[in-house]
Amino acid sequence: MCGIVGAVGTDDVARAVFEGLERLEYRGYDSAGLALCVEEASGATLEVMKAASAGTSLSELKDRIGTSERRRVRAGIGHTRWATHGAPVLVNAHPHTDCSGRVAIVHNGIIENFRTLRSALVEAGHRFRSETDSEVIAHLLEDALRGAPPDVALASVFAQLSGHMAVVALLADHPDLILAVRRTSPLMAARGRGIEFVASDVPAVLHRATQFFEVPEDEVVVIGGGSADMVAARGLDDLPSPAIDWRSQDVELGGFASFYEMELAFGAEALAQTITSLVDEHGGALMDELALDPYELKRIRKVVVVGAGTSFHAGLVGRFAIEHFARVPVEVDVASEYRYRDPIVDEGTLVIAVSQSGESLDTIVALREAQAAGARAISVTNVVGSQLARIADGVLYTRAGPEVSVASTKTHLAQIAALHLLGLWLGELRGVLFPDEASQRRRELTEVVGAVASVIDARGAIAAALEPLTVRERFFFIGRHVALPVAMEGALKLKELSYLPAEAYAAGELKHGPIAMLDSDAVVIALIPQDRLRAKALGNLEEVKARGAHVVAVCAGEPGRVAELADTVIEVPAVSPLLFPLVGVVPLQVLAGSVATARGLNLDRPRNLAKTVTVE
Ligand code: G6P
Repeated sequence: MCGIVGAVGTDDVARAVFEGLERLEYRGYDSAGLALCVEEASGATLEVMKAASAGTSLSELKDRIGTSERRRVRAGIGHTRWATHGAPVLVNAHPHTDCSGRVAIVHNGIIENFRTLRSALVEAGHRFRSETDSEVIAHLLEDALRGAPPDVALASVFAQLSGHMAVVALLADHPDLILAVRRTSPLMAARGRGIEFVASDVPAVLHRATQFFEVPEDEVVVIGGGSADMVAARGLDDLPSPAIDWRSQDVELGGFASFYEMELAFGAEALAQTITSLVDEHGGALMDELALDPYELKRIRKVVVVGAGTSFHAGLVGRFAIEHFARVPVEVDVASEYRYRDPIVDEGTLVIAVSQSGESLDTIVALREAQAAGARAISVTNVVGSQLARIADGVLYTRAGPEVSVASTKTHLAQIAALHLLGLWLGELRGVLFPDEASQRRRELTEVVGAVASVIDARGAIAAALEPLTVRERFFFIGRHVALPVAMEGALKLKELSYLPAEAYAAGELKHGPIAMLDSDAVVIALIPQDRLRAKALGNLEEVKARGAHVVAVCAGEPGRVAELADTVIEVPAVSPLLFPLVGVVPLQVLAGSVATARGLNLDRPRNLAKTVTVE
């Protein structure tokens, strides 16, 4: 949710923190703020700047930071907020300070016991300025610092806080360092020339960092020098350093109007990179990174896929491939629901957590729950060294490059490919798929990249064909079999970006209730693969047409009679039915972007959403 960045060094720290904030805006745009430790002849003081004006927080800060740059600043912290406790107003913007103004903190997560802590602090004479749960940390630290070195003080404060969170602290009395600690919530450290960083996400510092470090859980890490007598903290050199091969230009808008449009345009590249990393030149599986005992996987009796949002939809697509190729039953669950249904899990269960960020708390908790019950766990994630990558028994990386847009596009394609390949590999391991057939299927997937690229290249024409829909306000997406999750993803994209009512239904289920909502104002978008269900899809088109709905068909291959029934046909290449989601979802991604743009909405700042949701 909230974005955190901190920097310490001899380089222009104020600028580095601000740049980090610019790159973290997708984490939350309710407010932004930073604190700099400014050294003057009389000693160091903290300068805090905050802005909470919709859409302009960062430009406001930029103007104010300009004046600080000329001063000596060796350490600074920053925060972009997605409000949980306390309204999105200036007083609740981070960083928060203690009573003396010599301690500043930024926080991401929820402090479940903050009311009790706050009452005790108020009673002890502390003055609070915000309604946030976060502010208690600054006041607790103020007290703790009186009797302990900074790292010990922060560790003792952190031990009092319940919940999942990350905290970064800046102290006027120690102007050459910042301290960081986390529990479940994301935080990584990095090093560049003359500067060290801590950040909630890699993109915040990608343009300046040359080396990355994992921040362990529940251990205070010191960033920067260390004039203080550290007792318990670890420095960056004590931390594991994963190799991150992302390119900094992937987090900069290269001539595109939005990250959403840029990442949509790079869908085929994301797909190709993912497939290349998991398939060798002969069509064989490259699953070494999975680091799981194949014999153990062979004995799996049930697979459970968990994920949230777009990742959940990729899981729904993946189920078809895994069941088809590996002949093992697959359940797919929304991560936030999984643990509460008292799931039946044992050593014969393989849980697959799908998450672009690898940091969605619901997905992490679901995976941990299944692991605790004896399941083996694989994560499919896009972020090297992310929480899910670390806690799963094996990891399958999508190689989509950094994804900044809140609404996912390119990673969805990469996730579908990764699950497809996992299904093939399990099929081979379990002896239900001949290696030749598996290789053939892998080559087929490789060849689909060109088909996907052709749909993406045609996005201008697709947008033009769908232009009449931009004034419509009620959308229904229908599909059968593997096209149903595509319909669900199309509806989600439209809801996320345009805030319009958009529902997805199994095409055959429409007549059992939802069809009552159809009239001439309704738009029905039908997803039609080239498969054995074409006749059934035609029947559904007849039904919706008869109710006067405006019908759009996204149709694989020759449309034939589909063209007679639909008002608009978007033809996509005829690919093997299980791969239809890869070509079928792209026009829906285009549609969501066009409708939102026509309504004057900012594609990169969808209302109320955050890219990575790190609260339950
Ligand atoms: C948030 C985002 C969605 C995303 C979901 C899962 O809700 O707004 O776009 O699909 O989280 O994120 P993950 O990183 O776990 O794939």
